[in-house]
Amino acid sequence: MFFNNLAQLLQDFFFTKIRSAALAPVAAATTAGAASIEKSFRNVGIRREGVQWCRFRGQKGKSRMKQSIVRLIPSKLRPPMRRLYQCLEYDIGQRIGPMRILYQHLEYDIGMRMGRRDALNPPKWLHPIGSSGFKNFKEVGEEFFQYFVNIGGLQPYQRVLDVGSGTGRMALPLIKYLKDGSYEGIDIVAPSIEWCQNTYTPRYPNFHFHFSDIYNKMYNPTGKYKASEYSFPFGTSSFDFVFLTSVFTHMLPQDLDNYLSEVVRVLKRDGRCLITYFLLNPESLELIEAKLSSFTFRYDLTGCRVENADVPEAVVAYDDSTIRSLYQKYDLKVLEPIYFGKWCGRKKGLSFQDMIVATKPH
Ligand SMILES: C[S@@+](CC[C@H](N)C(=O)[O-])C[C@H]1O[C@@H](n2cnc3c(N)ncnc32)[C@H](O)[C@@H]1O
Repeated sequence: MFFNNLAQLLQDFFFTKIRSAALAPVAAATTAGAASIEKSFRNVGIRREGVQWCRFRGQKGKSRMKQSIVRLIPSKLRPPMRRLYQCLEYDIGQRIGPMRILYQHLEYDIGMRMGRRDALNPPKWLHPIGSSGFKNFKEVGEEFFQYFVNIGGLQPYQRVLDVGSGTGRMALPLIKYLKDGSYEGIDIVAPSIEWCQNTYTPRYPNFHFHFSDIYNKMYNPTGKYKASEYSFPFGTSSFDFVFLTSVFTHMLPQDLDNYLSEVVRVLKRDGRCLITYFLLNPESLELIEAKLSSFTFRYDLTGCRVENADVPEAVVAYDDSTIRSLYQKYDLKVLEPIYFGKWCGRKKGLSFQDMIVATKPH
């Protein structure tokens, strides 16, 4: 009890007094840099209640340095100190300490000021997407751009919707292509959308980004609204092409069902959608059984299988028959074949995830 109160006291003290005192000289020293540092700390404050402790591969365990520091702290003081440290972590799924946040902001701001950084390279403190680095980020965007055009039939004059647009990985290759068309992105992570709005829209006025405060235990654990009841903020039949890359792989059955119905609603007749999944079928199940897969999907939930029982949205897989039935339910015609991916250890596959291209019949 005493230590809990102490931890609360320390947290409150830090967020009110020390934080502003510590940031005051920084704020005086730089302008834009300091503003964004202060903003990140504010975000820490907002997010500390909703933080999820889902760890990703490669983040297990503590570094040696951290272990040595922890050993220096009396064991009774460790829980409140741990809580104090954790409350500084910035984003879901990431364990980032204050020094790293500061470093990332400085690296970003200095890189931008010196013109050394590509303006469309998202800052590291936003939720990381893809394996690593801007090179990989661009390569994956480029890879999907080829699918949009060559498999999805995307044309430069079309109106495009990117559901779960993240930090612009798919928007990036489209800026050079959608010259006479337009792009709308929606996502549930406010800082990512804010960054995209500030970065893309002033340079590319036909690119727009929208934040929706939808709950997702992994991406937006404090979200107000349910994905299963959400209506996309666009009119019926308003898009030629809708895509979701690596989004239904983080959504649960009722939510996915509603989103697919929304995809159909906003698509024009003859419009197309391209969506990625982890699909379970005899082949992928056999490869999982043989331990060749990147995921085990060992937890069976109603209507799907997941990798992490505590944070089911971390990775979600569906039977391909379930997804086919949903397409039938919403009168979406699958443009065969389904492009199965390599995620499960399949030797040949178009991409990493499975991909379905479908059309809303005339
Ligand atoms: C793995 S990231 C992929 C981002 C982007 N599609 C890409 O390929 O770079 C998953 C994205 O889905 C978004 N997301 C999760 N649930 C969502 C929902 N219900 N509605 C919209 N976006 C969602 C997350 O915020 C995150 O940006």
